[in-house]
Amino acid sequence: MASFLNLFWRNDKGRWDRSYAEGHWGFLDSIEQGPRHRVIADLLRAREDAASSVLDVGCGTGALVPHLPDNVSRYVGIDLSSEAIRICRGRKDGHGDRTFMATSFDDYAPVESFEVIVFNEMLYYYPMRRIPEVIARARGLLTPGTGSIIVSIHERSLKKRAVWRRLRACMVPTESTTAVDPGTGNAWRIERYDVPGTTGGAADVEHVLQSSAESMRFLRSGDPADPGDTSPSKE
Ligand SMILES: C[S@@+](CC[C@H](N)C(=O)[O-])C[C@H]1O[C@@H](n2cnc3c(N)ncnc32)[C@H](O)[C@@H]1O
Repeated sequence: MASFLNLFWRNDKGRWDRSYAEGHWGFLDSIEQGPRHRVIADLLRAREDAASSVLDVGCGTGALVPHLPDNVSRYVGIDLSSEAIRICRGRKDGHGDRTFMATSFDDYAPVESFEVIVFNEMLYYYPMRRIPEVIARARGLLTPGTGSIIVSIHERSLKKRAVWRRLRACMVPTESTTAVDPGTGNAWRIERYDVPGTTGGAADVEHVLQSSAESMRFLRSGDPADPGDTSPSKE
C-alpha cells in the first residue's frame, strides 16, 4: 500500500521538510531497516583503506551513521531537506569526522574528493532519464583510481528495474548482494561499483555521459516508462 501511495511522491524540498517534521520517516532509523545499513557498512569495511572518506547522498536522518565502520575517517551526509539535516545534527551516535549539509546533490560542489559515494534508497527520486548524468557527476567527485559507488534499492520499489538497467548502462557492478529483514520480509538489493572516477573536469563528465548514452542504445526495449517517484515501503 505504501509503495502505491509513494508513486505520487513529488521530490521537492518543501514536501520532504514537512514529512520529516511530521515524523513520517522515523522508520528509516528502525531496527527493521538495519540489514541494508549493515550490508553497506560491510562493503565500506571491506575496502580496508585506513582513510576512507564517504559521501552519503540523500542521507535522510543519518540512519547509516551508527553503522559506519572505523575505517571511515571522514563522512559527509547531504540531503535536500534541511529538516532531515537538522535531525542528523542532533544525533549523538557515530564517531570521527561527521559533517551534514542541506543541499541538493545537483548543487553540491565539494573541494575534496571521496573514496566512496553512497546512494542509499534515494536514486529513484530522480527522473530515470537523469540517472546517467547523476552517476557521471558522482564519478567526477570520486578519488581517481580507487573510488566506489554503492547503491541500495528496495526490492519492492516500482522503479527498481528501470534504475538497475540505467546503472548497468553506466557501470559494471563489482559486487551485488541482498539484505533481508526476516521479521518484515523487506529486502534490498545493494551493489558496489568500483569505478575509475574522472578528474571532475567537464570534458570527463561529457565522456561518461556519451558512453552511457551509447550503452543505452543497446539496451533491450521494454524498459518500463518512468512510473513516478517511489520510496521504500514501510511494510
Ligand atoms: C527515502 S530517503 C532515504 C534516506 C537515507 N538514505 C536512508 O536510507 O535512511 C531519500 C532521501 O533523499 C533525499 N533526496 C532526494 N533527492 C535529493 C537530491 N537531489 N539531493 C539530495 N538529497 C535528495 C530526500 O530528501 C530524502 O531524505
